[in-house]
Amino acid sequence: MSIIIRRATPADIEAIGRLVIDVWRETYRGILSDYVLATQTVPVGERSIRYVGLDSDGSGRAALVAERGGTIVGFAAGGPATDGSLGTEAEIAPPYVARRLQFRGIGGRLMGALAHALIASGHKSAGLWIPRDNVAAVAFARALGGTVAGTRSTCAGETMLEEVAVIWPDLAELTVWHAEPAALSRGARGSGLAAPDIVAADALTRCRMDG
Ligand SMILES: CC(C)(COP(=O)(O)OP(=O)(O)OC[C@H]1O[C@@H](n2cnc3c(N)ncnc32)[C@H](O)[C@@H]1OP(=O)(O)O)[C@@H](O)C(=O)NCCC(=O)NCCS
Repeated sequence: MSIIIRRATPADIEAIGRLVIDVWRETYRGILSDYVLATQTVPVGERSIRYVGLDSDGSGRAALVAERGGTIVGFAAGGPATDGSLGTEAEIAPPYVARRLQFRGIGGRLMGALAHALIASGHKSAGLWIPRDNVAAVAFARALGGTVAGTRSTCAGETMLEEVAVIWPDLAELTVWHAEPAALSRGARGSGLAAPDIVAADALTRCRMDG
């Protein structure tokens, strides 16, 4: 079944919220406390979906989804940096891919497509903060050419989190992960194009570190 990467629309918000919460809980079990995992659903969802539907308002934001058979299976978003902590023009929200479809190239293509969209909005550099204990995510971001540019400590409930800044000083280098910028032109739901390389990736079997 093909995977389409397209701009998110407000109609996708509920599905994105569900995806983000489910994958976030799976990913951070053992890293964050059970209490935080059970109660911090709204902030996590908000942080990730605040960009949805805002790509056409001149704010320089972009939100993309990966869709498979009408189901949202991946999400990536970014926009102008909200503070100077990353030292980049744009800030990327943590991307999420449905667990059963991880390690098949969807996350990389979402990030590449997001880079195209952010560049189109005038951003030249971008980065994101990733909890250091999310080893797989740090490895993913570095595999995509990101550079570790700093660390910080934040508080998630009663858990102190060490976070790593991964940045792309030249966003153009991230675009190589998705070769179909035309698929991301602003448009209605379903206007995205199926990327043949993603379809092919469905058949790949890879051995990776468990995320
Ligand atoms: C992190 C995440 C978005 C990656 O998406 P994905 O679809 O699984 O990743 P891809 O298959 O597109 O991988 C792209 C590249 O990253 C690298 N990569 C991905 N996962 C990796 C891992 N666990 N360890 C090392 N490298 C990894 C690969 O080298 C791959 O490059 P390749 O095609 O040359 O082999 C996804 O696994 C996810 O949703 N994880 C849980 C949520 C999360 O942690 N989000 C925060 C991310 S910053």
